[in-house]
Formats: sequence, C-alpha cells, structure tokens
Amino acid sequence: MLKKVLAGIGAGALLFGLSACGGGDDDAEGGADGSLVIGFAQVGAESAWRTANSASVQAAAEAAGHELKFVDAQQDQEKQISAVRDFINQQVDVIVLAPVVETGWTEVLQEAEDAGIPVVLADRGVEAADEDLYVTRLGSDFAEEGRKAGTWAAETFADDADGTRILELQGTTGSAPANDRKAGFFEVLDAEGLDYEIVDSQSGNFTAEEGKAVMETFITTHGLDGIDLLYAHNDEMGLGAIQAIEESGKVPGTDIQIIIVDGSKAGFQAGVDGKLNYIVECNPVFGDQLMDVVEQVANGDSLEKFTAVEESAFDASQFEAELPNRQF
Ligand code: AHR
Repeated sequence: MLKKVLAGIGAGALLFGLSACGGGDDDAEGGADGSLVIGFAQVGAESAWRTANSASVQAAAEAAGHELKFVDAQQDQEKQISAVRDFINQQVDVIVLAPVVETGWTEVLQEAEDAGIPVVLADRGVEAADEDLYVTRLGSDFAEEGRKAGTWAAETFADDADGTRILELQGTTGSAPANDRKAGFFEVLDAEGLDYEIVDSQSGNFTAEEGKAVMETFITTHGLDGIDLLYAHNDEMGLGAIQAIEESGKVPGTDIQIIIVDGSKAGFQAGVDGKLNYIVECNPVFGDQLMDVVEQVANGDSLEKFTAVEESAFDASQFEAELPNRQF
C-alpha cells in the first residue's frame, strides 16, 4: 500500500519517482491493481457549484476504480481538520482537501506530511506560508474571475459621470475565492481609473439565505436609489439578493446591475429573465482531472504547484444560447 512506502517521507519529497500503490494489509488500502484510497475533505453543500463539484469528484473516483472517503464539513474548518486527521489515522493513500478558509492549516498539513500522506488541494487554496505542505492545487484562478468581473464593470460604467456606487456580497470570510475575487475586481477598477464608491461590502457566506439577508440589510441601510451595481461572489448570494431587491419593489438587472460568479442553470435562467447582467464562470466539473492529478501524485510524478481549470464569462447577449450547456 502506498502509505507504507511514503511513511516518514515529507510531502516535499514525494515527487521523487515513488512507485504507485499496491495491495496492503490494515486500515485504508489501495489495491494491487493501482487503485487508491482517497480521503476527500469537502467544504460543504452550500451551493449548486459545491453539489456539482462533489458529484463530479465522486463519479470520477468511482469510474477510475478508486475508493473515495468523502466528508462534507458543513463549511466548518474544525470539521475539515478532524476529517483530515481521520484520513491520516486511516492511512489513506492521498488526501484531497478543499480548504474552507486560507489560514489555520499548518498543524494538520504538517501531521499529514509527517505521516507520509500527500495532500492535494482541490478548488480553494491555503495561505502561501503553507505552500510546502501540499503537493499541488487544482481549481479556479479566483483572482482572474474577479478581474473578469472588474473588466466588465469598468467598461459598463466608464461613462458614469456621477461615479459608480457599488454593493458587494462577499463569499465566506477568509476563503480564497472571497479574498481573490474581491482583490481581482478592485484591481481592475483601479487600473482602469473608474470613479467608484464601495457603498457597502459584507459576507453572505456563499449561501442564498445569507445573501438575501445581507441584501435586505443593505436596502434598509442605504436604499437602492443611486446604487449602480451589485457584485455577488457567487450565484446563490446573487439569487438571494435578487429576491430581496424584488421584494423591495425594485427591478433587478434594470434598477441595479448585477454580476454573479459560478454560472449555474439557475444563475443563467435569472440572466435570461433579465434579472442580472454578467456571469463569470467558475467551473466545478473537474473530477476526472482531479483523479489524474491524484494518480500522478501517487506515482510521484512532477506536477505544477497550481493548475487552473478552464473558465469563461458571459454577458446578456450570450445567456440564452449558453443556458442549455450548463451542467449544474
Ligand atoms: O470555491 C468555489 C466557490 O465555493 C463557489 O463560487 C461557490 O459557489 C462555492 O461555495
């Protein structure tokens, strides 16, 4: 079993041509046929994106003949940490972690390294200080997603003489997509010299319920008159906000322009219905690619530190044609 070969070898040393897993004895065991036991500590089930991501990884593991031990951490870092510790105790071959937030991972990642179990990050990243404690990350370039949103906003509001007044619904506080989507977005607005004001910016934790509740607070506090743009870091928060805007008597997509990130069927349907204006795609369907990465890691192949999944962005002229293509 792969764990026996790797015990005592740090993650940084895993890329030295180790042989793949074989049959074994106790706990979690890969097979003699090269099948692996993979522990996957998933963020939760907070969005259509997340559900599609879990399904994609589970289907790909099954198709590849690997055993996937799946834990839904319900957006709770402590639950993810204990899932990783359980995987270490079970001596799985590879741990896949989608870290809910960027910080607080050093100790448990060090424990995985000490146990000789390689860690692959899927979707979200961790802080740069922990870079040596995982082998590679496969997921989105969240800063680039933010830049795409910023480029559209800068072009759309370039001639807004009064200055562009923006509300922002951030994702989970401290998460890589919340941090990077914000940074990429405002980086472009600043670079393009857009005259803008952030009227309010708060976390809706990537859920529809919290997105709606925060939008209601925005409306109560600031009203919507004179607000030009809502930038929602994911579909669910954007869709929740749309409900709040409608309940306040305003017309989403017209009275206030809206950008969302993900591109679910529900998000595109809202676009087709004229309720939002720009969709930045975040692609969750990378299970097959993840299995390739996990197998390469188990084989000790040399890998890039980060591989970005392919993603696009869509304006209103593209929503209808794109809707049938959405996979989640
Ligand atoms: O990490 C990816 C993000 O997490 C998606 O944009 C969001 O919908 C999910 O909760």
